[in-house]
Amino acid sequence: MNFLRSSWCFALLICLGVWVTPSQLRACSDSLQLIPRPVSVQRGTGVYCLPSPLRLGVDTPPLLTEGLKRLSINAAPSMRRSRGRIACSIDPKLRGREAYRLSIGERGVSLIGGSKDGLRQGTQTLLQLLEQYGTKLPYMTITDSARFAYRGVMLDVSRHFMPSEMILRLLDEMARYKLNRFHWHLVDGGGWRFPSEKYPLLTKKAAYRMEKDWDTFWQKDRKFVDEQTPGAYGGYYTKDEIRRVISHATKLGITVIPEIELPGHSNELFFAYPELSCKGKWTFDASDVCIGKESTFRFFEDILSEVIQLFPSKYIHIGGDEAAMNHWGSCTDCQRRMKEEGLKDNHELQSYMIKRIERYLLSKGRKLLGWDEILMGGLAPEATVMSWRGEEGGITAARAGHDVIMTPGSHVYLDFYQRESEGEPRANGGFTTLEKVYSYNPEPTALTPEEHKHILGAQANLWTEYVLDARHAEYMLFPRLLALSEVVWSPQATRSYSDFLARVNYHVPRLQERGINVYPLRRIAVDMQLDSTRREVSIHLSSERQPSEIRYTTDGTEPTATSQLYLGKPIVSADSILLVARLFDGAKPLDLPSVRYRTDYHKAIGKKVTYNGHTWNEKYPAGGTQALVDGLRGTPTYLDGKWQGYTTPLDVTIDLGEVTELKHVFARFMQERMQWVYMPGDVEVLLSEDGETFRSVGKQVTRTSEEEYKPVFETFSFPMKERARYIRLKAANARSAGHFIFTDEIVVW
Ligand code: ACM
Ligand code: ZN
Repeated sequence: MNFLRSSWCFALLICLGVWVTPSQLRACSDSLQLIPRPVSVQRGTGVYCLPSPLRLGVDTPPLLTEGLKRLSINAAPSMRRSRGRIACSIDPKLRGREAYRLSIGERGVSLIGGSKDGLRQGTQTLLQLLEQYGTKLPYMTITDSARFAYRGVMLDVSRHFMPSEMILRLLDEMARYKLNRFHWHLVDGGGWRFPSEKYPLLTKKAAYRMEKDWDTFWQKDRKFVDEQTPGAYGGYYTKDEIRRVISHATKLGITVIPEIELPGHSNELFFAYPELSCKGKWTFDASDVCIGKESTFRFFEDILSEVIQLFPSKYIHIGGDEAAMNHWGSCTDCQRRMKEEGLKDNHELQSYMIKRIERYLLSKGRKLLGWDEILMGGLAPEATVMSWRGEEGGITAARAGHDVIMTPGSHVYLDFYQRESEGEPRANGGFTTLEKVYSYNPEPTALTPEEHKHILGAQANLWTEYVLDARHAEYMLFPRLLALSEVVWSPQATRSYSDFLARVNYHVPRLQERGINVYPLRRIAVDMQLDSTRREVSIHLSSERQPSEIRYTTDGTEPTATSQLYLGKPIVSADSILLVARLFDGAKPLDLPSVRYRTDYHKAIGKKVTYNGHTWNEKYPAGGTQALVDGLRGTPTYLDGKWQGYTTPLDVTIDLGEVTELKHVFARFMQERMQWVYMPGDVEVLLSEDGETFRSVGKQVTRTSEEEYKPVFETFSFPMKERARYIRLKAANARSAGHFIFTDEIVVW
């Protein structure tokens, strides 16, 4: 930040004709704060001071004129071609996707786009420079183009309705950061938001509900009320609002891709048109449309026809994900369809519907886009796949010659926590830090360069189960969308997280100035290493916020201005510590929660572990065989890679190597019901000297209610005065397949 002030100062000195050393100017160049990082920047020596009023050439894009106004830069149009001090033009010879060249030199600013899109992207770059430097622009030449054509953001407006004003603001920010596809998830089990003239009951009967809280609504209710019901919660867009969103997006070079979900995630539909379900009526568990009935196809073709009239996008997203497939097997219509069409299972039945809908879209000159489940039962011939359940779907589709958009839950799901969950608003249980988003490379190494051509780009998704309103949505989107911006725009080879982090720290206050409710970079990352030779743990801390001061204690107390300052050297412990770390600005603690992290260099660390019967579930291995005795404790977030998960009971034996005095054995478990993670019914600890005969030292029944939907942590603690070589821990999991129990460590003292 200091640096900014100093570069301003250089600029001023140069404009006044004061000599500045080359090293000072080199320092200037390091401070370029552009996001996304351009392909190439060549710095010159000198600063061009924009005259006031600034004369604009006739080719000046409206985006630039409006941007200058927003930045309060005095500009006036000039009638004469290319006489403007900011000269804009298009040169189709400029190579590269959405390419532009921006030169700032003694003769002024020249912006050349290879196309209209390129000119638009160059304009956004120039506006970022003007925001950073004001009217005193350092000499430079930027040559830039996009890595991927598809640079997307998805917003779910069904679980919680988001007003169109929020979307207009989002589009502005997307454009600033060169994101160019807005995927509008318009309909789902939380409410129907698309206004249909032919089916008016959709918005009259399926767009409002009484229950705002998602857990309660989804677990107990799933019912909608009529639009006019007093106190009803929800909403839908008018066609005029949709036109306004599309027109604003088009001006910014963003394509709006509408999504109409089928055949699953259609619960809300049956409130308005129950005849589209297999049972012919609304039921709590009906989420898929009936594929047997012709009326289902008439309905979707009618709706899609209205969608197509409104949205110019080539792509129409038809959903396709997570069909429950629970009623098709017992539906006479669906069964008849399967027989007639020779479809052997539910997947082929679903695929029949997707292929038929694709034929309809193609007949209207549009293309089908769907979540990766559309691969099941055979992919529609010209479909493009959005790979969300990891990258596998995308890899399979690309190998089969289909286009792909990467949007894996592991890296770009913005409904997940962006730091440890304590002190954060409730989120879906996953873990997607800024760094995690930044680390994503949409081109899987498993694919050949030829196959990479099918990867059109990547997209971040914001599902809104727990995102209550527009402010909250912004908090989840920003600044993680800035990381996405660089993932999809900048060359992979020149990307660096530390370099990016410094620039994000510059952009967060800028976003705030524009009224965006941005997540204020409040994570302190705790990285723990175990040294089994020295029998100690060392903890390294790093902050997203820069510059920052981290102060900490190791006895569980809240850090104060006089607590130890973290200076980059690891914190070392051979015992048990409860680390509490917090960000400070001098003597003042920042108004951000502290992180708490317990470590124990306990007696079982590194000892041999035997899984009796089952091991962990492949999706949640944590550190594998040694995970339960590696000293690494889970954070409050189930997907942090430190929690080991099991769909069976857990039964493990730890061999301490020799008979050892034991004072305490404990293990912590997690319940995160929305992710199918439950407390074990009970936990038992048994001891043995020979590994053959075990005696129980106690069994504890869980105190956690199964009805609790918020994440819960429970420690099963067994204080004792015993001697033994083998410790066996059993945790019951009596639930059916697909229900997990999770633990992070068996601590032995
Ligand atoms: C999805 O997250 N169900 C596409
Ligand atoms: Zn049916």
